[in-house]
Amino acid sequence: MFISIVVGSSRQNSQSAKVGQYLAGLVRVKHSLHSVKDLLPKLWDHDDFESIQEQFAAKNELVTKELNKADAFIFVVPEWNGMVPPAMKNLFVICDKELAHKPALLVTVSAGMGGAYPVVELRMSSYKNSRVCYIPDHVIVRQVEQVLNTADSVSENDTRIRERLAYSVKVLEEYAKAFQGIRQSGVIDFAAYPTGM
Ligand SMILES: Cc1cc2nc3c(=O)[nH]c(=O)nc-3n(C[C@H](O)[C@H](O)[C@H](O)COP(=O)(O)O)c2cc1C
Repeated sequence: MFISIVVGSSRQNSQSAKVGQYLAGLVRVKHSLHSVKDLLPKLWDHDDFESIQEQFAAKNELVTKELNKADAFIFVVPEWNGMVPPAMKNLFVICDKELAHKPALLVTVSAGMGGAYPVVELRMSSYKNSRVCYIPDHVIVRQVEQVLNTADSVSENDTRIRERLAYSVKVLEEYAKAFQGIRQSGVIDFAAYPTGM
């Protein structure tokens, strides 16, 4: 089993990258950790959607290797102006079958008390063609600069979020096992239904 952790901030030394590192330490199966910028350095800006998908398939080994082989995803997504950052949305524009019928855990990040909007945005609009399956649990890491900074917890909030992350990763790992059967069932028909409704 393989879990791909994708950090949705395109900022250097982002807090989301810190959270991604922490999550990498919790995942008990093989995994990778990448920022969306490493995976997809170029924002989609081409008229011909088919051709840019082909370009990415041909050029970006990370995407084809790491996302295709993943059985599950953890998306670590900051809230920027109440939204998901464009680099993260780019993933859903360019990728689709790499994510299909795979469970994903949403972990959103806010320096303040935000972080709910990216959960809602991704749950609402990113799954239609990608067929990514968000598990019911998600985690919102609020006041991110105050938590996950040291090996041991330094506060009640730090402990609470560490426990919530550890629990949610365990739940994701079980979904990842169970969803393998769905993908192997022979029922999925991308030729007949390449997009959702
Ligand atoms: C362009 C931009 C817009 C932001 N807008 C919000 C916001 O709407 N709500 C919020 O809680 N934090 C907002 N923040 C602060 C982030 O929560 C903060 O940068 C946090 O560290 C997560 O982002 P990062 O992973 O890029 O570091 C914003 C940050 C940036 C760079």
